[in-house]
Amino acid sequence: MEAVVVSAPGKIILAGEHAVVYGYPAIVAAIDRHLTVKVIRKPSKQKFSGLVKFALDQLGQTNKVDLDIQSDLPVGSGLGSSAALATAMVWALLPQAKLEEKNRLVKIIEDHQHGKSSGVDQTIVREGGCLRFQKGTFQAANLPLKQAILIDSGRPKESTKDMVTAVAGKKLIFPIIGRLATDWSEKLIKENERLLEELGVVGEPAKKIIRQVEASGGMAKICGAGGVKAGSGMVLAVHPDQDRLQQLISRNQWPYLRVKLGGGGVRYETD
Ligand code: PMV
Repeated sequence: MEAVVVSAPGKIILAGEHAVVYGYPAIVAAIDRHLTVKVIRKPSKQKFSGLVKFALDQLGQTNKVDLDIQSDLPVGSGLGSSAALATAMVWALLPQAKLEEKNRLVKIIEDHQHGKSSGVDQTIVREGGCLRFQKGTFQAANLPLKQAILIDSGRPKESTKDMVTAVAGKKLIFPIIGRLATDWSEKLIKENERLLEELGVVGEPAKKIIRQVEASGGMAKICGAGGVKAGSGMVLAVHPDQDRLQQLISRNQWPYLRVKLGGGGVRYETD
């Protein structure tokens, strides 16, 4: 039986998270970590839960396919794992659908996860590269960072939906965050992080990591929806002295990933 295999990348938001939900720009880049969905069309008794079950039901495919899902993207940590899952599932289950229809279905699945989603995650997962995204439209953006260190501040207890809901009343900060994304450079990471802290999406473990990176001469920020009850997901850390950053990470035994930025978007693989 022929399988359809689709691979979709994760992402990091370099600037503009949360403000992007309210129509301000964001800068976002694909990373070289992926989620892969393999679909074999046959009557199936496989049981699923969560977003996979929601997506299968939504696409009218429950009990009609066998699925194999592999991922090296940490879940719920700001790296776009839900957008990668939604995209790879729609593309693998409905390969013949038109692009607009695929986009519409991915958005339904993303909205289920995110509440009100800006569409930035699903756009970068589809397109790859580095994009300036605003109100559903996007252009290729310069990518001054070719690779990045992501330090794990711990998995948030809150969902993206919880965090988007929590900041809904704080409308005065969004235009200020949006301005950083308008003319983004690496130098703005520190200011962006301060604004995210003011917004109330960064928890204590992440703040502790970020203050130590800053004290050693670097800059760091969360790169997704964040979280305050426990971890805030992955923290993007940049430093003029890579050895010093590496020593700081080793001394503190922080779990981390090294990722390349700006790779390709969703694609069909040959099995
Ligand atoms: O769920 P995450 O961590 O990939 O973050 C999504 C970015 C938000 O701006 C918080 C939400 C959105 O839909 O843009």
